[in-house]
Amino acid sequence: MGKLILVTGAAGFIGSHTCVELLNAGFEVVGVDNLINSRGGVFNQIEKICGKQVSFIKLDLLDQDGLSNLFKKYPFDGVIHFAALKAVGESVNQPLRYYDNNIVGLVNLLKVSQDACCQSFVFSSSATVYGAHNPSPLIENMSTLPENPYGRSKLFGEQIVKDYAEANQTFQYHILRYFNPVGAHPTGLIGELPNSTPNNLMPLIAEVAANRRSLLKVYGNDWPTADGTGVRDYIHVCDVARAHVLSLMYLFEKKSSGIFNIGTGYGHSVLEVLEAYQKASGRIIPYQYLPRRDGDVAISYANSNLARQTLDWSPIYKLDEMCRDSWNFITKHITNN
Ligand code: NAD
Ligand code: WQD
Repeated sequence: MGKLILVTGAAGFIGSHTCVELLNAGFEVVGVDNLINSRGGVFNQIEKICGKQVSFIKLDLLDQDGLSNLFKKYPFDGVIHFAALKAVGESVNQPLRYYDNNIVGLVNLLKVSQDACCQSFVFSSSATVYGAHNPSPLIENMSTLPENPYGRSKLFGEQIVKDYAEANQTFQYHILRYFNPVGAHPTGLIGELPNSTPNNLMPLIAEVAANRRSLLKVYGNDWPTADGTGVRDYIHVCDVARAHVLSLMYLFEKKSSGIFNIGTGYGHSVLEVLEAYQKASGRIIPYQYLPRRDGDVAISYANSNLARQTLDWSPIYKLDEMCRDSWNFITKHITNN
């Protein structure tokens, strides 16, 4: 029997892809999610891909008794904690909801992990913790200054995990700072399917390509970049998912904590992504320039050498493949509906 892993936020975009990678690597997986931004049907799709099942339990991390019972029932070897609210604009309007969900959820989870002596923990963080003041490539030891409550909930989360580890020497963690996860599983069976309107570039481009919205608003064509539009480090969700498996394996073997950037190390502009998506979909994607969006930076991409060297991880998918897999998922999803 493989080691038993708890995945929180397992029905979500990155969580579902990570369940696939964990099952394929021989781990046993229990997934929990309150389905606030996802659907339970994803677990049937995961089974179609892997021929193996995630044991899914609908649970809110704010439900302490539910969490205690979960840890009484299952002897987890490790935890991957994805469950969080992630919409930047919403976090500005509802900061307490974001702190309650993202911080109290994490604290509850650490408390039950402590009681159950579960010592290996992977925490989903974000490149957003670097803020706007650092030049790219962004490196793990740069100073952090997130610009909104969502980003601060991630930075506080990092600190809570580090403080807990400091007080419990047998507890090891990896904090993974993702850049811009996009794409979908190459089978097209799972992908990004939020319950609310998407906020990120690629899902919005996908909606325009699928005629669900008339045009893409491009926020700024006067940035100091080659074509004037913002540059980001887009990374295929399967590459992000695989980093979690390697991270857990490293924690089990080496028992050593760390913070890792999960990005490709390359930046693409909004217009480059648009162009690649037009090619992948064979559709014209109309767009219009708008003023810069508040809180945006011109350029953000990772120095991901630490993850590459330490975890023996390297991203394999290129931008064209990210767009291909996103479009494959979108067309399948639309056909299925
Ligand atoms: P997602 O919304 O698709 O997945 C998060 C899942 O957590 C959802 O299924 C949601 O229903 C669940 N959830 C939220 N609060 C919960 C709670 N209290 N109890 C139980 N379940 C709860 O988001 P994602 O893109 O898969 O993101 C996963 C993690 O990665 C998050 O922590 C997010 O902050 C982080 N992250 C995401 C990105 C990105 O661009 N997608 C970038 C950097 C970091
Ligand atoms: C990418 C580029 C926009 C939408 C956000 C969060 C961050 C992290 C990842 C979770 C930028 C431009 C976008 C649109 C556009 N999430 N754009 N028109 O801003 O790098 O990061 O998602 O942790 O916290 O802030 O990603 O996809 O929103 O934007 O022109 O309709 O696309 O200006 O240059 P971002 P994004």
